Amino acid sequence: MSLFEQITNCSAVLTEKLQGRTPKIGLVLGSGLGPFADTFAQKIEIPYSAVPGLPSSTVHGHKGQFVSGTLNGTHCLAMQGRLHGYEGFTAQETVMPIRTMIASGITTLIITNAAGGLNPEWPPGTLMLITDHIRLQSGHPLNGPNEERLGPRFPDMTEAYSLELRNIALASAEQMGTTLQQGVYVANDGPAYETPAEVRFAKVIGGDAVGMSTASEVIAARHMGARVLGISCITNYGAGLSSELLDHSEVTEVANRVKKTFQGLLTEIIRSISN
Ligand code: HPA
Repeated sequence: MSLFEQITNCSAVLTEKLQGRTPKIGLVLGSGLGPFADTFAQKIEIPYSAVPGLPSSTVHGHKGQFVSGTLNGTHCLAMQGRLHGYEGFTAQETVMPIRTMIASGITTLIITNAAGGLNPEWPPGTLMLITDHIRLQSGHPLNGPNEERLGPRFPDMTEAYSLELRNIALASAEQMGTTLQQGVYVANDGPAYETPAEVRFAKVIGGDAVGMSTASEVIAARHMGARVLGISCITNYGAGLSSELLDHSEVTEVANRVKKTFQGLLTEIIRSISN
């Protein structure tokens, strides 16, 4: 079966489960942010496993489902839990839920993640608007024959993270009195955190944050023509930048601590996008 047929089939199942709704804005909720979808009205939860053809997520703390619902009247479709390469999925597989959301009507995608910060002046809990990324991950989500019905063989990535959406995010943050830093996200494979030398390297090549997700999702979204906004929650200093050792529980703890601010910002951004 071609990729186009796979996506069309997944989208047909998702659309049926959405009971006629056409979602406008898609969200990928990273570590600790999953509960944001619980603020939706008229929720419908659809586990990835209920959509034949989609790989399902296994990582601790990731739920692995779509949540459909409205936020101040705007129809959103969130991914509660994403797929990571380190779970054993190929890059092409990790972006299947993204492609399915876009095939089901999403034109704007808001991607969130937890990341390690490379700027010593950004304490854990800092929110960072992603201006661009550097992808150091193995495999590529567009590897294999290109499916012209989904997008071009060589998609442009000059403005992978929409300037218009970034300006909306900055204005929303300002209106809320929330500080939103800006920077470049460096995507690594994980699941081991970076070594201090890798963190120094990420900084030297122009990075401001390091993480294990997002870049492939953005590539697939741009391939299919959706516009993208990305925001990182800096949950820790990159390895070697502080005396602390890295621990996943710290990541989720910090993400939980800023959850309210992050959710408030997302709500405001979605309100602005919809106006
Ligand atoms: N590195 C990679 N991924 C991460 C980090 C980190 O320091 N923190 C949260 N996700």
